[in-house]
Amino acid sequence: MQKSIAPAKALQGSISLPGDKSISHRYAMISAIADGPTRIKRFPAGGDNQSTLRCMEQLGIQVERLPEEVVVHGKGLDGLRASTSDLDCGNSGSTMRMLSGILAAQPFSTTMFGDESLSSRPMDRVMNPLSQMGAKFSARDGRFPPLRVDGGKLTAMRYAPPMASAQVKSCVLLAGLYCEGETVVEEKIRTRDHTEIALREFGADVTSIGNTITLQGRPNLTGNRELTVPGDISSAAFFLVAALLLPGSQITIYGVGLNPTRSALLDFLASIGAQAKILDMGQSCGEIVGDIQMKYAPVRGGLLEGAMTAALIDEIPVLAVLGAVSEEGLTVKDAKELRVKETDRIATVAENMKRMGIEIEVAPDGFHIPGKQKFKAAQCDSFHDHRIAMAFAIAGLAADGPTLIDRAEAASVSFPEFYDTIEQLSS
Ligand code: S3P
Repeated sequence: MQKSIAPAKALQGSISLPGDKSISHRYAMISAIADGPTRIKRFPAGGDNQSTLRCMEQLGIQVERLPEEVVVHGKGLDGLRASTSDLDCGNSGSTMRMLSGILAAQPFSTTMFGDESLSSRPMDRVMNPLSQMGAKFSARDGRFPPLRVDGGKLTAMRYAPPMASAQVKSCVLLAGLYCEGETVVEEKIRTRDHTEIALREFGADVTSIGNTITLQGRPNLTGNRELTVPGDISSAAFFLVAALLLPGSQITIYGVGLNPTRSALLDFLASIGAQAKILDMGQSCGEIVGDIQMKYAPVRGGLLEGAMTAALIDEIPVLAVLGAVSEEGLTVKDAKELRVKETDRIATVAENMKRMGIEIEVAPDGFHIPGKQKFKAAQCDSFHDHRIAMAFAIAGLAADGPTLIDRAEAASVSFPEFYDTIEQLSS
């Protein structure tokens, strides 16, 4: 599908967003291996989370899709059964990588596959630690999907992931649920902690001291609970940036997840001159939630590197768009991980920037975009990557004519209502 994005004068109004994609994957997987039903409110309709739900169904879990909630009928730690067919993870790296941790401990084998993008994403980052715990794998060229997991009895271990990855941390912790004794993950750079929070909600003993997480094996994970997924701050990022591109904008986004391991976006925006207001802050199932109000403000631009790059990794495509119109531009360093997302996001950002007449210098692990530039209307491509489709639709709002996004449907893996929400806020 090709989408035409008309330039907008300003964004005005209030919106709610789909539930957080990262949290929803964890709720779907953990509730399936807890005892009893879990009612999940605001479970996203997006393709990635639906892939996880379907995988859990194929593993013998009953899932009820009701208008206001999804009910996952968990069967306990040892309740999964072998699937009669291979599991389709669609476009979702989180599904394949995190589910590997659970499958590694099952007394059966499972094969997972994905679409073209997922088929080119490395799985050795989860195969390595899980093999050390005792699982066996086979993968195309030793590291790419389809991924076959021969599960079995695992041994707890202490693991220090070589890259900043919440998915790797999570797969080790999920595998650790099935081990006797303590599983420890030592992170060099702290990553999102939704798995730790969700496991605690379900009754597991998980402690975090500094960047070291310790999980006690074989917990009783108790279902019979209701969870509400907060709005996705990574989806909020598109509209927060749009408000900063268009003078006169003022928007409110209700019920957004503000977990400190995810909200670096707000700190970064504040540091470059755009202070969001947080209203009505509260807690939901261990996660911090609040309303975000953002008003147009001119931004300085700046540098992202080290832990800040890791904390903002999903937001970098849309921050690049903001960087181009900022006073001083944006430099991104230490972002090698962008090369192995749904697309090589350094390459796909650069390609679309060039199409829109924006100067960009690319480095192996990042890029530099000079500031004070103007977007020209152009034909962009999502390259089948949801965040690239949405980032350049936002750029289109500030362009000098209609911007075309090819393969715009890619947005639906995380945010099926994205284009309607733009229309709702545009004037
Ligand atoms: C995710 C972690 C991040 C992020 C991805 C979702 C998660 O990936 O980019 O969109 O839900 O844990 P890595 O853990 O590979 O950095």
